[in-house]
Amino acid sequence: MRYNVDAVREKFPVTGNCLYLDSGHQSPLSVDVKAGIEQFLDESLNHAGPKSAWMARLEEVRAQVARFFGVSASEIAFTKNTSEGCNLIANAYPFREGDNVLMLEGDHPNNTYAFLNIEKKGVEVRFVPMTERVNAETFRSVADERTRIISLSHITFHAGHKFDIESIAGFCKEQGILLMIDAMQSVGVTPMSLKEMGVSVMVCGSHKGLLVPQGLGIMYISKEVTNLVPPFLAAASLENPPADFIASRDNMALRAGAGSFEVGNYNLPTVTALGRAIELIESVGVANIESHLYDLGDRLLSHLDRMGIDLVGPRSRDDRAPHIYVIRLDADKWLPYFTENNVRVSPERDGIRVSFALFNTENDVDAFASVVEKYL
Ligand SMILES: Cc1ncc(COP(=O)(O)O)c(C=O)c1O
Repeated sequence: MRYNVDAVREKFPVTGNCLYLDSGHQSPLSVDVKAGIEQFLDESLNHAGPKSAWMARLEEVRAQVARFFGVSASEIAFTKNTSEGCNLIANAYPFREGDNVLMLEGDHPNNTYAFLNIEKKGVEVRFVPMTERVNAETFRSVADERTRIISLSHITFHAGHKFDIESIAGFCKEQGILLMIDAMQSVGVTPMSLKEMGVSVMVCGSHKGLLVPQGLGIMYISKEVTNLVPPFLAAASLENPPADFIASRDNMALRAGAGSFEVGNYNLPTVTALGRAIELIESVGVANIESHLYDLGDRLLSHLDRMGIDLVGPRSRDDRAPHIYVIRLDADKWLPYFTENNVRVSPERDGIRVSFALFNTENDVDAFASVVEKYL
């Protein structure tokens, strides 16, 4: 055991009520996250602010998020979710007609639609087949001098691939292409030092590996990226919002950095909770979480081999996600059975998705295997 999993598990009461193997769908709440939301509710209920204190906390959490990713706070923006981040970038890039964007066939639709939507501006989206291993070579022969962005998931939701982002980043740097990753499935389960990874932009939500409810996203824009123009404007995007709340054309200078993409009020309850969640994750260590999840995956794979059940996605630790395992079982047949047996998993394109989180144990894996074996 790489950390005290039982102590972490106690913070997730859902583990006493069902066999929860669905963190790739959404994280159950921890008592820490609930306490964070309650802190905001109590403050609001009893004192209704002051908002300035909440905004100071927002900046503290921004700094915490920045440390978590090894970047500076000015490179972090809060968004609503992954889709918003993808759409902001698709509409902020100064494309010219005839430019192209490279994406993977079958990648998450929220990323894909953001770019398909700008085909009407004359931008071509080129799909590259998704193979078990995706790295610089995957894109080399498809990219040309009009390729402006490569956008892909870091970890896929539907089969648990983990792509070689560092290799793709090297290629992008060489070619002057902006690399954007959707880290919705990787944040919190695999270490992500964004500078070392070399990505230009990272977008994600927080309701899976970052353990908070839906509705709060994070966007990283490297300070080396200087050609993006925020497509929306509000007082929050400005360097000096007007104190008298009267908008003027003379006062439209943007805040420096990723904050210029922020508009309007923030999801303050969830921001408060995110601070608590990151404290928990950091107290355990993301590298420890990742190792633990890979160990659980190895245990699951040996059960599957024994029962003669195939894994849909990659198998080697070099190519697979630590926590997502899609197993070739007919979802129409098996999902009702799992539900009857109080096992929470997700139906996927090619089977049933089992996804682990920091609170899952070897016993959970064995319990899942026994449930499968009983039906077989
Ligand atoms: C890879 C990936 N991207 C994006 C999303 C969700 O997008 P959003 O945060 O916009 O709801 C998910 C799943 O919820 C996902 O697995």
